[in-house]
Amino acid sequence: MPVIAVIGTQWGDEGKGKVVDLLSERVDIVARYQGGSNAGHTVIFGHETIVLHQIPSGIFRPGKVCIIGTGTVVDPAVLLQEIAVLATHGIEVHERLWVSGKAHLIMPYHRQIDAASEARKGPRAIGTTGRGIGWAYTDKMSRQGLRMIDLLDEARLAEKLAANLSEKNVLLESLYGLEPLDGEAIVAEYREYAKRLAPMVTDTERLIKEALGRGETILLEGAQGTMLDIDQGTYPYVTSSTPTIGGACAGLGLPPKAIDVVIGVAKAYTTRVGGGPLPTELTDEVGAHLRDEGQEYGSTTGRPRRCGWLDAVVLRHACWINGLDRIVLTKLDVLDGLERVAIATAYRIGAETVEVIPADVRAMEEAEPVLLELEGWREPTAGATTLEELPEAARRYVEQIEKLTGLPIVAISTGPERGQTILQPDPLLP
Ligand code: GDP
Ligand code: IMO
Ligand code: MG
Repeated sequence: MPVIAVIGTQWGDEGKGKVVDLLSERVDIVARYQGGSNAGHTVIFGHETIVLHQIPSGIFRPGKVCIIGTGTVVDPAVLLQEIAVLATHGIEVHERLWVSGKAHLIMPYHRQIDAASEARKGPRAIGTTGRGIGWAYTDKMSRQGLRMIDLLDEARLAEKLAANLSEKNVLLESLYGLEPLDGEAIVAEYREYAKRLAPMVTDTERLIKEALGRGETILLEGAQGTMLDIDQGTYPYVTSSTPTIGGACAGLGLPPKAIDVVIGVAKAYTTRVGGGPLPTELTDEVGAHLRDEGQEYGSTTGRPRRCGWLDAVVLRHACWINGLDRIVLTKLDVLDGLERVAIATAYRIGAETVEVIPADVRAMEEAEPVLLELEGWREPTAGATTLEELPEAARRYVEQIEKLTGLPIVAISTGPERGQTILQPDPLLP
């Protein structure tokens, strides 16, 4: 199967990094198509745990090509920092990591306005990662953005930056009461980034087209998740890009029919970091158990993640929007030791019972989950590598998810390490 997408089915942090790292052994190219340094994809490499923000999780596999595609937003300082961290682990990115010339740049004012506008929203804050993502995409959409190709042309960078600052500085000073930014200082800073990133900037659409022409295989690595999608998520508590499958076509210049398989990554329970509705949220000791056992603290910001039961309404939404073929279930081990487990099958909103995600975030905030309770299991699933090792109740839990989504679970992750995985032989996997 030449093109396989791996997509988050929930509110991000489903374990996409581990899954992509695992599958990337069997492909030629791994490509990110949206998002930016808001992503935090954890990969365990040897004895080290590394969190990647912008570089695809295939980078740990020798010889694999990694692409940061057109639909992403790139913070050059963060990218260079990541490259430096990889170098300390002996990972070289030279001639292996490519960045689209059409990807947009995250600028210092994007980060500043992100923080200032969040502070101004008070209790209605989105709880962004503070990486300037929303504002970089805002400039892209309003056609004022600076792109990687602009970074390589200093005169053009300076000119476009001056045009931007003539507006941004008014906003910073008048609305947010902040100091205006000095264009020359930014050009000097970005000049240094340009020198180091220039060799990686290329036409990634062409690279992908040529690779597919040679019969190579490509893994598309989604960031964030379906419920954080700007159109299909819990707007306005979402990110500013399209993590769902359509984003992969737009963000890599890939025709829809070129995508052969779409795999959804689902955590065995639900987490969310930041504000917005989470119908299955548990604020009791079970929620605390999930947070402690699952180490549910943001990979990018360190914030505690909100935890709750698995939500089949969310999973079914992700199945349809992304046209999922298979599910990879992660962090099953975190449920070990619970007497009972539960899955939401519908929501009660006022007098109604609904099985779809409501369009209005206020309805989603009111939603009470209709829970299907199942027996928990005492014996550990942690580290299991075969289905036979799973306690019967854990197997029933997995089967119930397959029943509720109508999709086969092709792999089950039972721990953070590569080997802690039950991987079923499947013709749709690379
Ligand atoms: P991503 O953003 O989807 O790549 O996920 P994150 O890396 O932000 O968060 C997933 C966290 O769970 C990371 O710390 C992983 O090391 C860890 N993890 C992944 N799979 C498993 C699993 O099956 N069991 C446990 N206990 N931890 C896992
Ligand atoms: P990965 O790829 C979880 C959330 C933020 C906030 C909202 C908007 O690791 O799964 P933004 O900074 O994007 O404007 O924040 O989206 N968010 C994530 N939550 N995992 C992520 O990425 C996220 N990226 C953004 O917490 O609620
Ligand atoms: Mg993450």
